[in-house]
Amino acid sequence: MMNAEWDVLIMGNGLAALTLALSLPTHYRIAILCKNRLQHNASSYAQGGIAAVLDQEDSLENHIHDTLIAGAGLCDEAVVRQIVQQGQEAIYWLLQFAIPFDQNTDGSLHLTREGGHSMRRIAHVADHTGAAIMQGLQQALCHRPNIAVFERHMALDILKTPAGDSIGLRVLAQETHNITDWYAQHTVLAGGGLGQIYPHTTTPMECTGDSIAMALRAGCEIKNIEFIQFHPTGLALPHQQQTFLISEAVRGEGGILRNQQQQRFMLAQHPLAELAPRDIVARAIASEINKQNQLFVWLDISHRSKEFIRHHFPNIEAHCLAKGIDITQQAIPVCPVQHYTCGGVATDIDGRTNIAYLWCLGEAACTGLHGANRLASNSLLECVVTARRAAQAIMQNHTMALPLSSPVWVDEHIAMDRNALQTMPLFHRANLHQVAEKYLGIQRSHQGLATADMILHHWRVHLPAPQTVEDYENYNLLLCAQAVCKAAMQQKHNIGTHYNIDLT
Ligand code: SIN
Repeated sequence: MMNAEWDVLIMGNGLAALTLALSLPTHYRIAILCKNRLQHNASSYAQGGIAAVLDQEDSLENHIHDTLIAGAGLCDEAVVRQIVQQGQEAIYWLLQFAIPFDQNTDGSLHLTREGGHSMRRIAHVADHTGAAIMQGLQQALCHRPNIAVFERHMALDILKTPAGDSIGLRVLAQETHNITDWYAQHTVLAGGGLGQIYPHTTTPMECTGDSIAMALRAGCEIKNIEFIQFHPTGLALPHQQQTFLISEAVRGEGGILRNQQQQRFMLAQHPLAELAPRDIVARAIASEINKQNQLFVWLDISHRSKEFIRHHFPNIEAHCLAKGIDITQQAIPVCPVQHYTCGGVATDIDGRTNIAYLWCLGEAACTGLHGANRLASNSLLECVVTARRAAQAIMQNHTMALPLSSPVWVDEHIAMDRNALQTMPLFHRANLHQVAEKYLGIQRSHQGLATADMILHHWRVHLPAPQTVEDYENYNLLLCAQAVCKAAMQQKHNIGTHYNIDLT
């Protein structure tokens, strides 16, 4: 089927991509492009779970309210309402793939709690929900001969007609190094976020912002990209390429944060203490770390019984034990770490972009659900709901492009100061990481953003033409870092995950 015209060509192989493929009719010819192997995707690392209103004590209004509060006024309320309303249906859809969600003794789903949620509403599979869901969906692909999976195929750019409609993707087959054009009726970007611009991220190596960078080059509108979510509790160990996450559910089940003086510092920060919205907890931890000479604070769940910890957090317990930390006996060293791209390619709730026949789903998209700060476990929910809606819209051929609500991003010329040019560091990934951590991290400043803007622009215009996958990824990472930087420079308020010390 290589190079044939596909009905739907999907770039990416996470939860949104597979949900879409499995929700389309069996006579559609569908291709899924995986940059690496099918099993390698960010969704598989989601520990916490999927948020939905499933408890009689809970209500849709509660979930909507919590989402809007976490999003700090920047959510699209209509989108929030619709996605939250379709939460139960999303869980039932997943249940048909025999996902082994944790259950209570009466057979109802066990619900855990996470930061920013006023109720227990997270359906989960112990502490490895993403992996369990993805295994179920990957299995289901085996029974769908109309879906072809192409591993080690990297999408490079979006193909368009002279009129500007999307008609497919330019693709690099990594085994043969061939670059060819793949044509499709509908093209879907679902390649995840841009976590790899940062040195410490919970996202896997594949998350190099490819979908967002391709969309930028094609003229898509990008929204809210300055809102980069830092998870408060990454496992603080040196020399990790991908930081292991200590799920928020650990705090949801009673985990307590303490500084090096053993003070429970969150009590003074927010009425919800350890379960305050993520941006608040992450900034409080960063501030404690700045005051002390250790690069972490402590998260302690050891007051719960061994059996409880093993039952709820088997994966976290095993991972920490392998690193010499027995979480049933001792506190865990944790620090904030990049976790999620709240903004992305502007879409409506069905994944439509401002380019006809081009769709974007999952972390790469900005539907308006997350606003300035995503509520925990709303992302898996968004993947399932929006991908199922996209399938309906594609089937009904509702492909009208969205109107632009703001100008598309352009990298205008930046005047370089001569002295700055002489001291400009050379581009390589480690230097990009340093710039992102120092200037685009939890705490930003006017001066820092201006410096980053100049360095990133210089690097990008001097980057040689890409040849290898790593070159293409670097190109995408740089473009995404520039977009984050420019958006952060334009943001005039400290809101959600964006915090600039020079703003009040
Ligand atoms: C977590 O388990 O803490 C992560 C959940 C999420 O980011 O939604």
